[in-house]
Amino acid sequence: MQTHQFDAIIVGAGGAGLMAALYASKGGAKVAVVSKLYPTRSHTGAALGGIGAALGNLEEDKPIWHAYDTVKGGDYLADQNAALILAENAVDAVIELEHMGLPFDRTPEGRISQRRFGGHTSNFGEKPVRRACHAADRTGHMILQTLYQQCIKNEVKFFDEFHVVDVLLNQGHCVGCVAVQLGTGEMHVFHGKATLFATGGWGRVWRVTSNAHTLTGDGAAAVYRRGIPMQDMEFYQFHPTGLYGLGVLLTEGIRGEGGILLNRHGERFMEKYAPKIKDLASRDVVSRSIYLEVRAGNGIGGKDYVHLDVRPATVNRYLAEAGETRRVDEAQIARALAETLDVCRTYAGVDPLTEPMPIQPTAHYAMGGIPTNVDAEVVIDENWTVLPGMYAAGEVACVSCHGANRLGTNSLVDLIVFGRRGGIKIAEYVKQASFIPLPPNPTAASEAEFKRIRTGKGKTRPYELRKELQRVMMDNVGVFREEKALSAGLEATRELRQRFRTDLTIDDQGHKFNTDVLEAWELGCLIDLAESTALSALNRTESRGAHSREDYKNRDDVNWLVHTLCYRKSDDPYENANPPLELNTKKKVDMSLAEKDPAFAPKERVY
Ligand code: FUM
Repeated sequence: MQTHQFDAIIVGAGGAGLMAALYASKGGAKVAVVSKLYPTRSHTGAALGGIGAALGNLEEDKPIWHAYDTVKGGDYLADQNAALILAENAVDAVIELEHMGLPFDRTPEGRISQRRFGGHTSNFGEKPVRRACHAADRTGHMILQTLYQQCIKNEVKFFDEFHVVDVLLNQGHCVGCVAVQLGTGEMHVFHGKATLFATGGWGRVWRVTSNAHTLTGDGAAAVYRRGIPMQDMEFYQFHPTGLYGLGVLLTEGIRGEGGILLNRHGERFMEKYAPKIKDLASRDVVSRSIYLEVRAGNGIGGKDYVHLDVRPATVNRYLAEAGETRRVDEAQIARALAETLDVCRTYAGVDPLTEPMPIQPTAHYAMGGIPTNVDAEVVIDENWTVLPGMYAAGEVACVSCHGANRLGTNSLVDLIVFGRRGGIKIAEYVKQASFIPLPPNPTAASEAEFKRIRTGKGKTRPYELRKELQRVMMDNVGVFREEKALSAGLEATRELRQRFRTDLTIDDQGHKFNTDVLEAWELGCLIDLAESTALSALNRTESRGAHSREDYKNRDDVNWLVHTLCYRKSDDPYENANPPLELNTKKKVDMSLAEKDPAFAPKERVY
């Protein structure tokens, strides 16, 4: 076992981790980034269409309108102080990225170009607004490249292909983490005054997902197993436009450029479900509409997908119908949606310039996660008690600025804004904090679990259990939910854990580059997070945002303007029996904007 000591340990090298590392290092901290991937392969690269900021470069816009859309899009579960910080800080964060060298697309006047995205409007919902700042449809990828270069310049130390598997707590503080080095199989201990988790989401819980194979919720599961709650796990977003069959993301920017959703009859069905902003309604609304069309037999060829049409002739027809003067041509679409064209041609054999794209909703984004305050400090209860030394930012965290449903583009804003705030807070903290000793035998639990997996003598291979888990979650804990299916889903996750604990076998018993053993360990994380999602969803007897209950169709603001905290009540991170879980629904949603302005008070969402 090797031990490394740094002021700050940042786990994960996506946008949030890199921004936190950059700001902690700028503040004078000695910083290590520990990442299971090479940094520029992080999943931030999959956020395509843009980063929202009320720059007003193409039409009037204001941060307060952005905050309003975020609160409304989140179906009033967003903590309103966090939504306001997100919207206000977005403006200078984007300008800062530009100054770091991010190659945004430009308007003819040379300003950052902006496009429309779902749920983003001007003047408190009046009409769609161009708010998403973009670099073609590769915005997240450009953010990664830009921030990685800045971190190198600031002498941040990178530990690439180090897979973090445990968090270390001692004397009421977070004191670091344990990682497995992929190349050697050795355990490393990272000892820090501050540790920030920025490990992304867990889309691989579901069968159809936009998430990379690496998105297995490792960071979230590791801290959950050490007693830190998971917040609002019932709110998981399905992005409306995944490539049919594969789930690969087709950016909302396609609809921002004028793309239209059509059913088998060629009807623009979003006119029925969101008469005002149609295809640019929030994601929860559009995903449900697609499911309803499919259920009504209106899927293409009677199957479970619809069409997304961005052919210039189609786009221009609808632009003319809407009374807009703008028109598009093939060259413009090819430039603005280069990645989309490439993905569709390569993976579906479809050329979006001449054919409509087959799409279906795809598991995309966790609104829930590790609870934090607006400075990325981890909080462990309804009283906002901070766990000293521990931070989280990005998708793994629940600030909660997105509430029950995140608006497109706000994930990138979240990474940059709260990653930066976390980095600044860490730099302040490590100046006055001292190193708390490591707990005794810091790698013991991880060593034992890896040995168990490596030497398992059961009959089931991890991929078989993973496939079953993904099927169960897709069928029972997907876009539409009800009690019987949720209970069955919950029960199934527990049965799968039993098989995972008692009947596992893997092929590779070696130590070097043993992805077999790491994939098996990741499966344990998926099971824990799936169970917590199913339980939290079963408990919330209302429909709100991405959590749509067929047996409780209405939103219930009297009883449910609260966050869910799900605790795993066991001292053993790898207990063989199913550990008891406890839910707490006493953490109230922050309503500070509504207290001053009735526009922010909960009301029926009309799009
Ligand atoms: O549709 C997209 O480009 C995805 C962006 C996001 O999730 O914010």
